[in-house]
Amino acid sequence: METMVKIDHLFGGIYQGKKVLVTGHTGFKGSWLSHWLVMMGAEVYGYSLAPETEPSHCIMLDTKMTECYGDITDQEALGDFFEEAQPEIVFHLAAQALVRDSYDDPITTFNSNVMGTLCVYEAARKTASVKAIVNVTSDKCYENKEWTWGYRENDPMGGYDPYSASKGCAELLTSSYRNSFFKDGKGILLASVRAGNVIGGGDWAKDRLIPDIVRATSIARRVQIRNPKATRPWQHVLEPLSGYLMVGWKLLEGEAQYADGWNFGPDLSSNLTVGEIVELCKDYWNQIGVELNTDPNQVHEAHLLMLDCSKANKILKWKPVWNIEDTLKHTIEWYKNYYLHNAVDTLSDIKAFVSAAHKSGVAWAQQANFKEAGHLLPVDQAI
Ligand SMILES: NC(=O)c1ccc[n+]([C@@H]2O[C@H](COP(=O)([O-])OP(=O)(O)OC[C@H]3O[C@@H](n4cnc5c(N)ncnc54)[C@H](O)[C@@H]3O)[C@@H](O)[C@H]2O)c1
Repeated sequence: METMVKIDHLFGGIYQGKKVLVTGHTGFKGSWLSHWLVMMGAEVYGYSLAPETEPSHCIMLDTKMTECYGDITDQEALGDFFEEAQPEIVFHLAAQALVRDSYDDPITTFNSNVMGTLCVYEAARKTASVKAIVNVTSDKCYENKEWTWGYRENDPMGGYDPYSASKGCAELLTSSYRNSFFKDGKGILLASVRAGNVIGGGDWAKDRLIPDIVRATSIARRVQIRNPKATRPWQHVLEPLSGYLMVGWKLLEGEAQYADGWNFGPDLSSNLTVGEIVELCKDYWNQIGVELNTDPNQVHEAHLLMLDCSKANKILKWKPVWNIEDTLKHTIEWYKNYYLHNAVDTLSDIKAFVSAAHKSGVAWAQQANFKEAGHLLPVDQAI
């Protein structure tokens, strides 16, 4: 029997008809987020650099939204776009997101990730329609002590490499703006959200494990693996996005206590090493082959990094939906279908995720939370 999940009733139906500005919409996470928002009936405005990867998930989705290609640090262009869009909520994802690139070009990294975030906050301050901002940083914003337990939202910020430090700085900036300009829930409600390594179809960034694996496999090569013993929290891209949308929902309802930092990571069982992930991927694409990159001159990358998500579990009633097997199955099969059949399974992955979320009982997927009468779409008929 069809699961009657009304796609535009998710998150209490808050995104239906809402004007939402997404920065970084041409990137991996931003392309999934924009598409999901449009499915829920939002009017989406995207501001980013032009798509940088070939292929590009954003181009293949061709999401029905208003786009502007520009630099996040171009205050005038960004301000004009805010003025045109008049958004109620901003999801800020635009960033130089690669650790290894941050060693090659620290100036662009700090400029985009810190000054870019500052420009977004200033543009929002000048746009009266903006009620809420969800700023996306990273688990790497924490001072990494290679602990075997997870970092909590009130642990100190830090960052060894330029990327991680830029995300720690973006957090300090966020805290300063919350205290200085958005105090006591007056004006804009500002939250920051921190997730770990996300995977899923449609990512072609360089130096990331899954894109490296599928790129090599698609041309019958073996993938070179760095740091096979490094442990990371692996999760499907839809998992943190459901957390960001959940926080956005609460901010749009004017609940000031949610204007805070939030961790969104997987269950402990999904904190696996790079080597373990590669072995599991082979279950879904048996042509995957591996060789170790033993280059002794590799740049420093964190070896152990986990998030404690008790706060989101308890207060937001948020929890991960897919286990690591479901996550890898959907991820690897997305790429396999793309390379072998030229198919783009993004829409069917969103539907499968929403159905699984509904069955698992997470708050954001329950119809009982829908407050207003709306336009009803069963999940299978959306878009
Ligand atoms: N992918 C992950 O595993 C991961 C993990 C933790 C945090 N994050 C964070 O999530 C956010 C999105 O990451 P992603 O994986 O989609 O990255 P991505 O590299 O795929 O996309 C980055 C996006 O930011 C835009 N961008 C970069 N510099 C810009 C600039 N100067 N001006 C305007 N736009 C600019 C790009 O055009 C692109 O749209 C980033 O803030 C990243 O740091 C990602």
